[in-house]
Amino acid sequence: MEVFRVLHMNGGAGDFSYANNSLLQLKVISMTRPIAEEAISSLYCSTLPTTFTIADLGCSSGPNTLMAVSQLIKTVENIRTNLCNNPIEYQVFLNDLPGNDFNAIFKALPNFHENFKKEMGADLGPCLFTGVPGSFYGRLFPSRSVHFIHSSYSLHWLSKVPEGLEENKRNIYMAETSPASVLKAYYDQFQKDFSLFLRCRAEELVDGGYMVLTLLGRSSEDPTSKECCYIWELLAMALNDIVSQGMIEEEKLESFNLPKYMPSPTEMSIEIGKEGSFVVNRIQVSKVDWHVYNNNDESNGLRAGGYNVAKYMRAVAEPILVSHFGEAIMDELFIRYGEIIVDRMAKEKPEFVNVTVSLTKMK
Ligand SMILES: C[S@@+](CC[C@H](N)C(=O)[O-])C[C@H]1O[C@@H](n2cnc3c(N)ncnc32)[C@H](O)[C@@H]1O
Repeated sequence: MEVFRVLHMNGGAGDFSYANNSLLQLKVISMTRPIAEEAISSLYCSTLPTTFTIADLGCSSGPNTLMAVSQLIKTVENIRTNLCNNPIEYQVFLNDLPGNDFNAIFKALPNFHENFKKEMGADLGPCLFTGVPGSFYGRLFPSRSVHFIHSSYSLHWLSKVPEGLEENKRNIYMAETSPASVLKAYYDQFQKDFSLFLRCRAEELVDGGYMVLTLLGRSSEDPTSKECCYIWELLAMALNDIVSQGMIEEEKLESFNLPKYMPSPTEMSIEIGKEGSFVVNRIQVSKVDWHVYNNNDESNGLRAGGYNVAKYMRAVAEPILVSHFGEAIMDELFIRYGEIIVDRMAKEKPEFVNVTVSLTKMK
């Protein structure tokens, strides 16, 4: 599987699009907003740039894309106007892999500009947006050209499926039944990818530049902990059911593994320390209920909530699953996955774990 070519969220504005199924990620952006605000405020006050360059990495498409950067601009604008400083220009880079629905972002920009200008007032300087297709596991921007880098719910994707996962059998990610060799292969790939990411960003950030990254992760040091693996174990269960029904071959399932890694804060800190270009300002764990569409409508709400979880997982995982299994099984797979999730959510209250790190590039 060539992750660079295959990975993207479901585009467009349909029922299974990321644009219509990204409330979870929106909630996470809001939850971690104080950390991003603290970082960008401190950066603005210490550098007072006349052109402020912000990059959002793994921006996807849909309401979250422009929401994340507009919140950052608003924070800077509040401070700038309080200090009675002159208007500044904002250069905004929106990055994602080439398969991302960049057209949807570009089409949304005119309305965004109009509304944002109305909201912020005539004193708002130019906000210049540029789409940057490419992998963040490589260089994206010129040297020392970016002040602030933001990334939410993207960096847990690896650059490739680790090598040496043949013994992972009917699992699709790390699981309790995965042999030690599989756990090691995943960790090795995370270490390589995350250190490469840090090296590239260290080149691109100005001295004293900031980076705020939120990943799906875990608080436990056990990489097979339920905190990070459960949602994928349930998808593996649904895929195994599809195998039992004869809709896909067993070998097809056994040759599929996800290019993801959900690290602990310790694992991230180790790589940041080894790379050596950044100071950690803060590293924080937060949790968010799977049942993000919580409507307090007891059993009915829970049932609908379970199917919603399957839907937002479909918006994220469908393209990569289609590339391996084909399109024909998708409806059946996600109905089964929804049923499994509904059943589990009736018995327990699972949560996603997020790790957010705020970093400053050393001078
Ligand atoms: C779940 S979406 C998050 C989107 C948005 N940041 C949000 O919070 O709603 C993850 C995004 O990361 C992107 N992504 C994954 N690996 C990437 C890579 N190596 N380079 C750039 N983008 C990547 C995916 O294509 C996807 O659009």
